[in-house]
Amino acid sequence: MSNGTFTPATGAFPEGFLWGGATAANQVEGAFNSGGKGLSIQDVMPQGITTPPTEGPTPDNLKQVAIDFYNRYAEDIALFAEMGFKTYRFSIAWSRVFPNGDDEAPNEEGLAFYDRVLDELQKHGIEPLVTISHYETPLNLARTFGGWTNRAMIGFYERYSRVLFERFGSRVKYWLTFNEINSVLHEPFLSGGIPTPKAELSETDLYQAIHHELVASARVTKLAREIAPGAQVGCMILAMPVYPLTPSPNDVVKAMDTAHGSYAFGDIHVRGAYPGYLLRYFRDNGIALDITEQDREDLLNTVDFVSFSYYMSVAETADPAALKGPGNIMGGVPNPTLEASEWGWQIDPQGLRVVMNDYWERWQKPLFVVENGIGAKDVLVEVDGVPTVEDDYRIDYMNDHLVQVREAIADGAEVMGYTSWGCIDVVSASTAQLSKRYGFIYVDRNDDGTGTLNRYKKKSFEWYKNVISSNGATLS
Ligand code: BG6
Repeated sequence: MSNGTFTPATGAFPEGFLWGGATAANQVEGAFNSGGKGLSIQDVMPQGITTPPTEGPTPDNLKQVAIDFYNRYAEDIALFAEMGFKTYRFSIAWSRVFPNGDDEAPNEEGLAFYDRVLDELQKHGIEPLVTISHYETPLNLARTFGGWTNRAMIGFYERYSRVLFERFGSRVKYWLTFNEINSVLHEPFLSGGIPTPKAELSETDLYQAIHHELVASARVTKLAREIAPGAQVGCMILAMPVYPLTPSPNDVVKAMDTAHGSYAFGDIHVRGAYPGYLLRYFRDNGIALDITEQDREDLLNTVDFVSFSYYMSVAETADPAALKGPGNIMGGVPNPTLEASEWGWQIDPQGLRVVMNDYWERWQKPLFVVENGIGAKDVLVEVDGVPTVEDDYRIDYMNDHLVQVREAIADGAEVMGYTSWGCIDVVSASTAQLSKRYGFIYVDRNDDGTGTLNRYKKKSFEWYKNVISSNGATLS
């Protein structure tokens, strides 16, 4: 797709469009302490980001078993294949490969698991899209080293990535370095493995951690190309268009400032240097970072494509008295023109077109929508004696968002693919619930841990299958 053969927009999904779905290791695998796996930060986050981390693992943590993908991956991948997936985005659990993060040698049993997953994907002709780090920093790196505040993390991450490229580089073409890298600013423990409570972190600490991640991302981008020629490496950004709440220039400027908070990550990944507005922010706020000459050189290893998640847009206002919105980790205020999901995430399909135009015009790099979907409380019913979920609300949500992807393609954006989030029900990242379901496949497991773990196809399963087989022509 991004090898210079891009043909200009026709208003349809291009040939070879990578349709699929996405998950993350900690939200699906379970087997949290088997196969030689070490603990990750997720093992001390039984309630997601809603409560502070626990000292050690606790049995109420649904992620200990999650949906048991570790044992049921073949069955799940067969269902993805039945839907016609061209690609499957999954993450590798760092602590399955390096149990403590700072180990000298990798855990063979962990690597062998991902070999089996890749074998299964290959069998079905599904292209893997691998996230190297998706909210699952090894706990030892968080607790002993302070997570990404520590420059030593660059070396640990590089060692881990090198092992992945050497082992899987001949079978994996598409790599993402860090999931939603811009969320470190908002969720330092989840995103950066930084154990210090956010209120006690200075902005310098936070931006220094971000700098380390950016350098690490650039260094492994270079490494991927050296070890696995043909590899394509993308950054992954939590995308959220920011609208001014009113036409007041004060609100417009405030919206611009908030948007810069996320643009910066793409700007650095794509252009290889810090943008002027961020340098100004550092100057104005007395933020002085340790940036070496080598770091600057490393950052010049820029990405091949830009991937992002999209769930909602946000409104922004300069009025300090305005209410903060629920369910939004990125700041901003509720948009009075939009409806919200049961978790308060405001639904805005057109925002996806807006953000895709924005990113395409800004970076001129192929885009990949690697997360999008709606978390909802599904109800299992029987239709003709078969358990299913009549999830028309999910079909509507996804249809409306995919129509906007098509619009963005018609606007001229080069788009590599679309992987819906939680193509099978997963444990939610923010609230650690199973009842916040995203999948086309229902997993019989409840928030209290009960359930058979059986898989059932929802109504949306057939719908998505048709979308894929028609290359988007069935969207309305
Ligand atoms: C993204 C994450 O922020 O949103 C996923 O990359 C996460 O890991 C997804 O699951 C949806 O969020 P949640 O909190 O509903 O699971």
